[in-house]
Amino acid sequence: MAKAYEIRHPAYDAVARTLHWLTVLLVAMQFVIGWTMPDVHKDTQPVNLIAWHLGVGATLVAVMAIRVIWRLTHGPTPDELPPLLSVASRITHVLLYAALGLVPLLGWINASSRGWTVRLAGVVSYPALSESGSAFGHAMGDVHGILAWVLLALICLHVVAALFHRFVLKDHVLQRMLPHAGPSRDQRRER
Ligand code: HEM
Ligand code: HEM
Repeated sequence: MAKAYEIRHPAYDAVARTLHWLTVLLVAMQFVIGWTMPDVHKDTQPVNLIAWHLGVGATLVAVMAIRVIWRLTHGPTPDELPPLLSVASRITHVLLYAALGLVPLLGWINASSRGWTVRLAGVVSYPALSESGSAFGHAMGDVHGILAWVLLALICLHVVAALFHRFVLKDHVLQRMLPHAGPSRDQRRER
C-alpha cells in the first residue's frame, strides 16, 4: 500500500531525477569554472579552463535538450500543494528552465562570435550561432555573465524552498526528487 504522503506527492521518475541531479552537477561546475577562468579578451584562446567551460557547457546544452523533451513528453509530476504554493513553485520552475536555456545559449552565441567552436565530448561540433566578430555576439557575453547571477538567485530560492518543504512543512516534496524516492506515478499505475 502506498503511504499517504506518496499519494499526495508521487516521486519523480528515475530519468527525471537523474537528469535533475546531472544538471545540478554541470551547472555547479559551470559556476566554478566561469568564476575562476581567466578574463576573456579579444585575443584570448579557448584553452585550459576556458576549454573546460565550453566542453562542460556543450554537455549541459545536450542534457537540457533531453530534459526538456522528457518533461514535455511526460508532463508534470502532480502534487497537492495549497494553490498559492503550487503557483509559486510552478513560476519558479518555469523561470529556472528559462534561465537554464538562456544562459548556455548566450554563452554559446558569444563563443561563436569569438570564432570558437563548441564541441560535445571534443567530437561533435555544434553549429555557430553568430558570425565571427559579430557585435551582437560580443554583447551577449555580458548578458551571459549577468543572467548567470539571476540563475544563481533562482537556484538559491529553489533550494531554500526545498529545505522549507523538508523541515517546516515536513511533506514529501524534497524526498520525491531524491534516490529511493518511492514509486513514481507511472509505476503506481502499472501495479
Ligand atoms: C548554466 C550554465 C553556465 C553558467 C552558470 C556560466 C557561467 C559563466 C560565468 C560566471 C562567466 C564569467 C562571466 C564574467 O566574468 O563576466 C562565464 C563566461 C563565459 N561563458 Fe559561461 N556559463 C554557462 C554556460 C556556458 C556555455 C554553455 C557556454 C558556451 C557553450 C559558455 C560560454 C562562456 C563564454 C564564451 C564566456 C566568456 C564571456 C565573456 O567574457 O565575454 N558558458 N560563464
Ligand atoms: C543547479 C541547481 C538546481 C537547478 C538548476 C534545479 C532545477 C530544478 C527544476 C527546473 C525543477 C523542476 C522539475 C520539473 O518539474 O520539471 C526542479 C525540481 C526540484 N528540485 Fe531542483 N534544481 C537545483 C538544485 C536543487 C537542490 C540542491 C535541491 C535540494 C535541496 C533541489 C530539489 C528539487 C526538488 C525537491 C524538486 C521537485 C519540486 C517539486 O516537486 O515541486 N534542486 N529543480
